Amino acid sequence: MNENIKSLYQEIESFSPENKSDLEKFKIHYLGKKGKVTMLFGEMRNIPAESRKDFGQEVNRLKNKAQEIIDSYTEKFENEISTDGEYNDLTRPTSYAHIGGLHPLTIVTQKIYDIFKKIGFTVSEGPEIEDDWHNFSALNFPEEHPARDMQDTFFIKTNPDIALRTHTSSIQVRVMESQEPPIRTICAGRVFRNETITARAHCIFHQVEGLFIDKDVSFADLKQTLLYFAQELFGEQTKIRLRPSYFPFTEPSAEMDISCDICNGKGCNLCKYTGWVEILGCGMVDPQVLELCGIDSKIYSGYAFGMGIERMTQQIFKTKDIRMFFENDIRFLSQFNSLNSL
Ligand code: PHE
Repeated sequence: MNENIKSLYQEIESFSPENKSDLEKFKIHYLGKKGKVTMLFGEMRNIPAESRKDFGQEVNRLKNKAQEIIDSYTEKFENEISTDGEYNDLTRPTSYAHIGGLHPLTIVTQKIYDIFKKIGFTVSEGPEIEDDWHNFSALNFPEEHPARDMQDTFFIKTNPDIALRTHTSSIQVRVMESQEPPIRTICAGRVFRNETITARAHCIFHQVEGLFIDKDVSFADLKQTLLYFAQELFGEQTKIRLRPSYFPFTEPSAEMDISCDICNGKGCNLCKYTGWVEILGCGMVDPQVLELCGIDSKIYSGYAFGMGIERMTQQIFKTKDIRMFFENDIRFLSQFNSLNSL
């Protein structure tokens, strides 16, 4: 390469202007009418024909380098208030910035929190990686319960005492162990089950659970609280129905359905022509669980309930496929951007 060009290239490359006027000088010095690079273009015709092409390419490289430096510093100086007392126009419209919003699952979780906070519930948290005691044993799961099976729960290979929590009830154990009744709390979070991923099920999902422990808590208290909750979340016209069910940690236990808000109970595709949609599990905390967690079951009683947040969110927004909540497709998520609360 021509020595002159080579040293010019180094000169240009090492240039670092401190402000806009430095940059302006640089521009004139190299690319101006009488600039060093411009002059080299003028010399082209004095170059022997056989080396003209190479010369041209090298000069072009110089010009591109200088232009690249000008562009990058121009942008830099545009974005900052210069130090030489010269200010940019701060009223200039900015370039478009994408503004995010809350994830639909977060919107619904916060709404559920708000509904229960209004009646005195606090919010509790707990770890996603749990031990057998908090996830199963303290909740009265017998040794041979299928949920403890490797097929249903993600255990840590080297230590079968540790697993990813399969429900948020483990948080309730932690609350009962560490707090004196009366207890009135809800908690939410990610839970993990070894399920095949389909439109209706996922190996990761979210739950919200509630726990109430005091003297003389009855099933009527549970039912009234759940009716209040359902009507706050789904509208005043909502009816609830409780069906007997089974959970190792509650006795008696029930599943709660709400009247289908698409067909108002008449029967449609969404409710599989029953008029009802199942939304949560609940029951009176088994006295055995209270005792295991250090609460005197002769003095205290309580209720608990738990629900899948994806299921609630699908019910509210009528989305069809649970996988959409985890794919982070901006086209799906941005539809909720204007809804930072329900
Ligand atoms: N933990 C139960 C589940 O995972 C839900 C539940 C919570 C049921 C509390 C009753 C009481 O499905």
